Amino acid sequence: MSGAKLNAVKSVIPLIPKSGAIGLGSGSTVALFAKELGQQIQNGRIDITVVPTSYQAYELTIEHGIPLTNLDLNPELLLTIDGADEVDKDLNLTKGGGGALFQEKIVASASKKLIIIVDESKLVERLATKFEIPVEVLPFSLGVVRRKIVEMGITPNVRQAQKKMGPIITDNGNFILDLKFSEPISEPRQVAIDLKMLPGVVETGLFIDMTDEVHVGTETGARVLKK
Ligand code: A5P
Repeated sequence: MSGAKLNAVKSVIPLIPKSGAIGLGSGSTVALFAKELGQQIQNGRIDITVVPTSYQAYELTIEHGIPLTNLDLNPELLLTIDGADEVDKDLNLTKGGGGALFQEKIVASASKKLIIIVDESKLVERLATKFEIPVEVLPFSLGVVRRKIVEMGITPNVRQAQKKMGPIITDNGNFILDLKFSEPISEPRQVAIDLKMLPGVVETGLFIDMTDEVHVGTETGARVLKK
């Protein structure tokens, strides 16, 4: 599967601008991209600064010698390269498998283009087919948000930490609820709006109408899906 991820990465390398500020997503596919990006910068081929979308992405920039910037210095980014957990037929996304959805969405919204790199296993007809929908929740609001989500007919599970007892804490100090739907979502925009309307929901992992291109890696190459 990492061969497929690498082919998705190779497919987006020609899209990297020669200079300017871009967003760097999170996840294992982005980690492969960051390595390639770092090499291009070290070789002097490009002159790029990066806004990271998570602490993981920040660490990748340090590891690969990628110069950092931020949204105060660069409120508009040329593009963002990021991964996804599911991609539907309209290129809507589920993100947040690594808990980084909030900053990822802010950086994507600052970008002229959102370019997604995935392997084929991420493609679905409708979101919530294989992957639950993460939402980031202020800890103070957990009880009431959970009650209201149950009332919407959705099953919320507090994401648990590995190698630490209790819930995971996001880069922003919040909890993640993974939402189990009884069937795949047919109206993801409305679901995203309804969830975001709940006080205490900081952000959802539904990225609606934000994606420009999806580069889908396979073991033999890559294909590009566009809106
Ligand atoms: C991070 O929270 C996510 O949004 C990632 O972008 C997503 O989980 C994709 O990660 P992988 O490339 O590791 O599958």
